[in-house]
Amino acid sequence: MQFTVIDINELIFKKNELFIFIIQPKIEISTYLKKIQNKSKIDIKIILENSNFKAKFGESLLIRSSNQPILLFGCDDLIYTNLTYEKLGGILFSTIKDLGFKTVSLISDLKISSAKEKKLISKILFGIKSKSYEFKKYKNNNISDNKIKLKFIKIYSKNQSFIQKQIETNGHILGGIFLTKDLTSEPANILTTDEFVNQIKAFSEIGIEVEILDEDQMNKLGMNALLGVGKGSKSKSYLGVMRWNGNKKEKKNIAFVGKGVCFDSGGLSLKSGRGMMDMKEDMGGAGIVMGAMKSIALQKLKTNIIGVVGLVENMPDANAQRPGDVVRSMSGKTIEILNTDAEGRLVLADALYYTNKKYKPEFIINLATLTGAIISALGNERAGLFSNNDNLSKSIFDIGEETGDLVWKMPLDKIYGAKMKSSIADLKNIGTAEGSSIQAASFLKNFIGTTPWAHLDVAGVVWKNNQTELHSGGATGWGVKLLFEIAKRQKY
Ligand code: BES
Ligand code: ZN
Ligand code: ZN
Repeated sequence: MQFTVIDINELIFKKNELFIFIIQPKIEISTYLKKIQNKSKIDIKIILENSNFKAKFGESLLIRSSNQPILLFGCDDLIYTNLTYEKLGGILFSTIKDLGFKTVSLISDLKISSAKEKKLISKILFGIKSKSYEFKKYKNNNISDNKIKLKFIKIYSKNQSFIQKQIETNGHILGGIFLTKDLTSEPANILTTDEFVNQIKAFSEIGIEVEILDEDQMNKLGMNALLGVGKGSKSKSYLGVMRWNGNKKEKKNIAFVGKGVCFDSGGLSLKSGRGMMDMKEDMGGAGIVMGAMKSIALQKLKTNIIGVVGLVENMPDANAQRPGDVVRSMSGKTIEILNTDAEGRLVLADALYYTNKKYKPEFIINLATLTGAIISALGNERAGLFSNNDNLSKSIFDIGEETGDLVWKMPLDKIYGAKMKSSIADLKNIGTAEGSSIQAASFLKNFIGTTPWAHLDVAGVVWKNNQTELHSGGATGWGVKLLFEIAKRQKY
C-alpha cells in the first residue's frame, strides 16, 4: 500500500476511485463535497437526512453516485487522543477493504484547526497501515478470499509537507512493528538461532553496530546459565548485541534485553503437545527488541540504546541439561535447574548480567515471554510489569497508556524471592506453583544489582487471536511503540 500526498486544490474526480470524506457531526457539507455534489447531481443533504448517519466515531455511509463513489466516514467530535485517532484509521481500513477499490482518496477538508487536522490525518494513516498487516507468505494463494488489494491512498490536504513527514515517521515506527510481527510469526524451522543472527547482522545497513557472541566467546565469559539451555539443540546459542549511538557526545545509554528462545519444547521437562504448539513465539521478547532497534535507527533518534538478545533453542536430547543439574552463571551465582522448562530466566540471568556489567546503562528493561501464569493473571491485554524502581515503572506505565502497549504493575516483595533459594546452590530455577510469575521476576532481580530495572512479562501480549481496531489477529507487535517512545524521551 502506498501513500501519496496531494494539495487539496488539485482534487480530480475519478469514477473508479473511492473518495473518502471524514465528517464531523452537525457540520455543514465541506467545499469539496459540495463540488462533487454539483458535478454528480446528487443531493448529499437529502441523502443524509434520509439516513441514520450521524458521523459518530468510525460510522460510515457509502454513496454510489454515477460518476463518483463517495464514502462518508464519521470522526465524531475530535476530542480524542492520538491512540483513538489511530484506531479510527484501523476502522477505516476495515471499512474500505471490502469495497473492492484499488485506489482510494482521503479528502481532508475539515473545519478544524490546522494542528488538529495534522494530528488526525497522520494518526489515521498510521492506523490504516497498522491494520493492513498480514502474514501470508506461506500461502500459495494469498488472495483466496477474492478481495482486491488496496494499492494507493491519495491524501488531499492543505498540510501537504507536514503529512508527508508524518508518513515517513509512521513508516519508521511501523517498519519496526512489522519486523516484530514477522519474526514472531515465522515458524521455528525457518527462524532458527542462525537465521535470527542473520536478521541482526542486516541491521548494520541501517547504522546499528552489531556484535554477535558465539558459544566459545560466551563460554569464556562463563555464561553457563544461557549455554546450558541450548545444549539439547542442534542450533547454536548466541548473544546478539546491537548498539545505536545516536548521541556521540554522551557515554550514557539505556538497554533493552530480550528473551530469544526460538523454540521452547520445555527440554527434558517436556511440555505437552498443546503446551508447545505456540512455542515458536518464545522469542517474542527478542522480537520486540529487534523491532524497537529498527524503528529507533530508521528515525535516527539522538540517544544511545543498547539492544541485547539471548538466542537459544530449548530441546530434549542426550546432551540436554537435566533437572537437578547445577550451573554457574556469569555472575558467579550458582543455579540448581529443577525444571528445564523454566529456561527463559536462565537465558536472561546471563544476558542481563552481561549487559549491566559491560554497558552500565542508566536503566535496563527486559522483555520476555517468561511465564504462562502471567496469562492467567492479565490475559492478552496487559503485560506484567515488575521493577525495582518506582520512577521507571511509573514512566513505563504512563507511556503504555499513551501508546496502547498496556502494562500492569505486579509486586516484587522479598518474600517471593525467598522461594527461589536452593538447598545445594545459591538459587533454583523454579519455586512453588503459586505466584510463579513473581518468583520468576524475583529470580531475574538477582542479576541486575542496583541498576534501575524493569521486567516485562509479555507471554500474553505478543500474540492475540482476536481482532482489535489496529490488529487483524496473530503476532501483535506489542511493545515496539512503547520502547520507541521511551527511547525518544531519553535525554542522552
Ligand atoms: N515460554 C514459557 C512461558 C510461556 C507459556 C509463554 C505460555 C507463552 C505462553 C516458559 O519458558 C515456561 O515454560 N515457563 C513455565 C515456568 C514453570 C516451569 C515454572 C510456565 O510458565 O509454566
Ligand atoms: Zn519454558
Ligand atoms: Zn520459554
